[in-house]
Amino acid sequence: MKMWEGRFKKALDSRVNDFNSSISFDARMYKEDIEGSVAHVKMLGRCGIIEQKEADLIADTLLSILADLESGTLVPDPEAEDIHMFVEQVLTERIGDTGKRLHTARSRNDQVALDIRMYLKNQNLEIQSLLFRLLSCIAKTAEQNIDTIMPGYTHLQRAQPVTFAHYVLAYAQMFRRDIQRLKEVYEHTNVMPLGSCALAGTTYPIDRDYVARELGFASVTENSLDGVSDRDFVIELAHANAQISMHLSRFSEEIILWCSSEFHFVELDDAFSTGSSIMPQKKNPDIAELVRGKAGRVYGDLITLLTVMKGLPLAYNKDMQEDKEAIFDSIDQVKICLELFTSMLDTLKVRPDVMRQAASGGFINATDCADYLVKNGMPFRSAYKIVGQIVAYCLETGKTFETLSLEEYHSFDPSFDSSVYDAINLEKCVDERKVKGGPSRDSVQKQLQSLKSFIEAK
Ligand code: ARG
Repeated sequence: MKMWEGRFKKALDSRVNDFNSSISFDARMYKEDIEGSVAHVKMLGRCGIIEQKEADLIADTLLSILADLESGTLVPDPEAEDIHMFVEQVLTERIGDTGKRLHTARSRNDQVALDIRMYLKNQNLEIQSLLFRLLSCIAKTAEQNIDTIMPGYTHLQRAQPVTFAHYVLAYAQMFRRDIQRLKEVYEHTNVMPLGSCALAGTTYPIDRDYVARELGFASVTENSLDGVSDRDFVIELAHANAQISMHLSRFSEEIILWCSSEFHFVELDDAFSTGSSIMPQKKNPDIAELVRGKAGRVYGDLITLLTVMKGLPLAYNKDMQEDKEAIFDSIDQVKICLELFTSMLDTLKVRPDVMRQAASGGFINATDCADYLVKNGMPFRSAYKIVGQIVAYCLETGKTFETLSLEEYHSFDPSFDSSVYDAINLEKCVDERKVKGGPSRDSVQKQLQSLKSFIEAK
């Protein structure tokens, strides 16, 4: 029989029991559930709503239940409806009627809202620290590759030379924004809903601010209807996770391309690649591909949450129980992806020689050649046209900017002199881009410094 048996004459259909139950997935919030109940019962005692010694007994027993769950001597009962009912049931088994006083001035509606906020606050911090680990790994990779020249692309066509340090630091910017986004989500999550009760608060003289302080919340929710029916903070975390996944997916896509024979810019460590069951020569980037694929699933979790919430009238509706599997999956996938991606990046072998070679072949210094003519006094559009003619000539004759003779340059414009070879030198092309945010050694050092300060300030 259920705890609401007073009102009902029949036992629940066993299929309804399974359908309704959430313990198989909400049991992971046991710690938050118990800590929330301890703070609640301490408040009930302090406010004289129940006797102090009963409050103490309940709190101590709850802590012993927590210890038993942590040690594994107690396991959640799959027959219980949810983790909240399970904990209360064990409490009452252990101390009898006194245990039945815990749920005074509380409903499972505000209880579950509290638990999920507490759980997501912790998970948010864990995701942030995984992102910081990834940022440190990027900083290390950048530091080792300040002079590694590679082609930069637009439309996946070789465009202008950059360095591998500059390239990976672009990803660091994305992950820094992800951390900032998570910090904002944390603020929105850090509001304490207990005391909203079922939907309309309570007549008991409770102290919500005390509970908030005990549990480390910055403030309390301002409207009881909203307190039990708001899941914006769940959706916001799912959105932050979707963006992290999108960034990881883009980075994975690059790595997948780079480790193909066509690029061969990098080599994956054996521990982070797999073989083929039929083609002995294969070394596949499965980890990067899976990270790219998981993005679809994490987006799906966000859409699930948005869709579950879109038609719900105030206040609590059982639909909202569907929030958990979606947000838990989103968190689990993002955490495992961040962890594996970071280790994969950490063990990645960079091939500076191949990158340099790829940067040399494709007239990647054409803009610099045009800029050279501009510095000699020519308007940019005219210089652009002449360099276009030189490229066409090179393609016809199988030459490059580096192998053209000075006479050949002269035939296109008399202002060319031997300093053109210096102007189109790739190292020079990169290092002259001293603009803030550019790929020159100095600019990249500044970016790196900024990244390191960001990591230190965490
Ligand atoms: N397991 C429920 C959930 O996750 C807890 C709240 C139940 N409240 C209720 N009124 N049935 O949403």
